[in-house]
Amino acid sequence: MRMVKALAQAFLRLLWILTLAKCKIPDTHVTCLFSEDCVLPCSFKPSGNEIISWYRQKVLLLSHSQQGGDQPDQPPKDHRTRMYLLQDQLSRGNASLHLSQCGIKDRGRYSCLVNSTLGQQESFVIMKVEAPIKMVTMEISKNREIQCLSKDIFPAPRVQWSTLPPKANLRSTTHMAPNTEGLYSVQSKLRMFENTLTYVCTINSTYGSQSWKSSLQEGELIGEAGRDLSIPCMAPQNLQNFSLTWTFTRTNDESNVILSYDSLTRRTSNLWESRVGLEQDQVLMGDGSLLLHNPESQEHTGTYTCTFSGFQNRHMVQTQVTIRSTLQRSLTENMPNAGGQAERTGKSHSKMWVIAVVVAVVAAVTTALLLYRKQRANQRQANRTTVEDTEMQPMETIKTSDDLPMDNCQLTAEHNNGHT
Ligand SMILES: *[C@@H]1O[C@H](CO)[C@@H](O)[C@H](O)[C@H]1NC(C)=O
Ligand SMILES: *[C@@H]1O[C@H](CO)[C@@H](O)[C@H](O)[C@H]1NC(C)=O
Ligand SMILES: *[C@@H]1O[C@H](CO)[C@@H](O)[C@H](O)[C@H]1NC(C)=O
Ligand SMILES: *[C@@H]1O[C@H](CO)[C@@H](O)[C@H](O)[C@H]1NC(C)=O
Repeated sequence: MRMVKALAQAFLRLLWILTLAKCKIPDTHVTCLFSEDCVLPCSFKPSGNEIISWYRQKVLLLSHSQQGGDQPDQPPKDHRTRMYLLQDQLSRGNASLHLSQCGIKDRGRYSCLVNSTLGQQESFVIMKVEAPIKMVTMEISKNREIQCLSKDIFPAPRVQWSTLPPKANLRSTTHMAPNTEGLYSVQSKLRMFENTLTYVCTINSTYGSQSWKSSLQEGELIGEAGRDLSIPCMAPQNLQNFSLTWTFTRTNDESNVILSYDSLTRRTSNLWESRVGLEQDQVLMGDGSLLLHNPESQEHTGTYTCTFSGFQNRHMVQTQVTIRSTLQRSLTENMPNAGGQAERTGKSHSKMWVIAVVVAVVAAVTTALLLYRKQRANQRQANRTTVEDTEMQPMETIKTSDDLPMDNCQLTAEHNNGHT
């Protein structure tokens, strides 16, 4: 009986050595989410007397002996609570390493060494950490620059600008910098040319798992007091499962939510009540235009912002709406080429003094405009020079090294030699 057992053990050992010699266990790749728990796999043939050791690069993290016995070096203190093996899994030949709250510094090449009477087995796990993109926002700064912003991303993502309709030679500057935890903030700026364009900012994650899109369009609209007005807003193509929000901002005021809509529940929450509304059957098709009922000139003049938010996608339309009072309307009716979208009514005021006032107003406005333009031109000249100055400087984009640092490879090579 003892003979048979010894023979069987010898045979197993031979088999073990043969398999080890024949097929080197390929490296396993694991991508863990930042600040979440992670499991690095390691399987072995259980024999009941193995010593399991986990290393990162060459440093021992943790060691476990199935039978108590000789306990090798204690793991470093700071790792002790964050890394552990599950006892019940060990007896099944599973020595997977549990790592809680992964950080950027945890990336690297790990090795799992199983030492038992059956022999030695070493397997490697390449561990990457990813902090996915959670949101992308856009805003227009005072000097007519459009900004695309995101934060807490790892590795540093790729940023790309485009316009609809497409325009070549978009010149953007992107700044990325890591915080103390190693997570990147992104700030990308682009000078705007025309407000008829839709500006699109795409941020892709390095590992290709995500592609976020944020777009912005500007518009201008003139309405009349007491006349219903539709402020247009269309969803980007193929947007499913979206939420829609309309906000209103009067000059220098805080923005307030007017209305929101959810395509899944098909519910509208309307804070302006009977003043505004959506076309219920149109909104599901992606037409989120806002109907403004019986607007007042002072009260409802301002910026209306429509935001479609969907899966990794956000589209904003900012419309500057001017509601003219009935008096303003009657004045402009007598002005040639005036009054963009406003409809003309039949009422006419033919009194001579009105014309006189109009002429005076036109003259004043024209003079003011000319002066303003001249000033703007001067200002632009000044701006241009500063912009050129900054563009001469190197881009502040920081190169990512999401791949393992050079010295890691050397360490692992040494480590490899040490155990084989
Ligand atoms: C090993 O155990 C871990 C939990 O510790 C589990 O997630 C994993 O699926 C197990 N692997 C195998 C091959 O059973
Ligand atoms: C593995 O076991 C061998 C003998 O079986 C021993 O010489 C070696 O030091 C052990 N290594 C580790 C890391 O426990
Ligand atoms: C971002 O990802 C999208 C979709 O996968 C792709 O079409 C686009 O070319 C990528 N852009 C960059 C800059 O990598
Ligand atoms: C939209 O939501 C529904 C219900 O949650 C889901 O079944 C569907 O896959 C989603 N579609 C997309 C494109 O995300």
